[in-house]
Amino acid sequence: MSTHKEFNYRKITTYILQEMKNKGEKIAILTAYDYSTAKILDEAGVDVILVGDSAANVMAGYETTLPITLNEMIYHASSVVRAVKRALVVVDLPFGTYQGNSKEALHSAIRIMKESGANAIKIEGGKEIVESVERILSAGIPVMGHLGLTPQSINKFGTYTVRAKEEKEAAKLIANAKLLDETGCFGIVLEKIPAKLAGQVTNSVSIPTIGIGAGGEVDGQVLVLHDMLGISQDFSPRFLRRYLNLFEEIKGAVQDYIKDVRSEDFPNEQEQY
Ligand code: KIV
Repeated sequence: MSTHKEFNYRKITTYILQEMKNKGEKIAILTAYDYSTAKILDEAGVDVILVGDSAANVMAGYETTLPITLNEMIYHASSVVRAVKRALVVVDLPFGTYQGNSKEALHSAIRIMKESGANAIKIEGGKEIVESVERILSAGIPVMGHLGLTPQSINKFGTYTVRAKEEKEAAKLIANAKLLDETGCFGIVLEKIPAKLAGQVTNSVSIPTIGIGAGGEVDGQVLVLHDMLGISQDFSPRFLRRYLNLFEEIKGAVQDYIKDVRSEDFPNEQEQY
């Protein structure tokens, strides 16, 4: 009989995520981009660590996710992989590394898998990426889809507002979700779409749906770590629940350190040789 401890330390696979959906167990996902935080997330028991291209925003300070390169994603992913024992590590294919054609997409996915040791890749889009998804899957690489607000297309849409509010766009999103399911994706991220639509998608596909700003009728949730920990301050959409105000906490600790150095309180007798 499996104990709680065994369940916690079993390496998560795409098969286990599917089992979780089938049993109605919710999937918890967070982003990470470096060794030290990935270690904390893994020990805490998160099911999937997403090395998101949101690294472009929260790690590098870019306004959009577009500038991050494949080499930079591989650097972040390999740092995360070195820390992780249990979670499934999924890595975003960055902008400009798959849109050209399916051969380019496969080449980028193989580089990520080979050079970082990650378990799967994520790719934004619907019908237009199906050929690439097929080709990547044929190489034995698990693929996660991403529909709704797809930040790599920000220049096309011009805004980060809620997607698929109109009936036509909602129907297109459901059709794309079914297509990704039929093609063989192991899951789909649904970003910033109405909760009711996310529920409809969840009931229309066999694979797990993972929401971010998509309500509760999905199979799991994902948040950007820096947002939920309150490290990033200038981003507070309605869907975001902040669990800490780490920006202020770290700032306070750094101010205490500066004060101690300046007053010569640090180092004391015990803190030297
Ligand atoms: O890049 C990212 O962090 C993501 C999540 C927002 C789903 O794609």
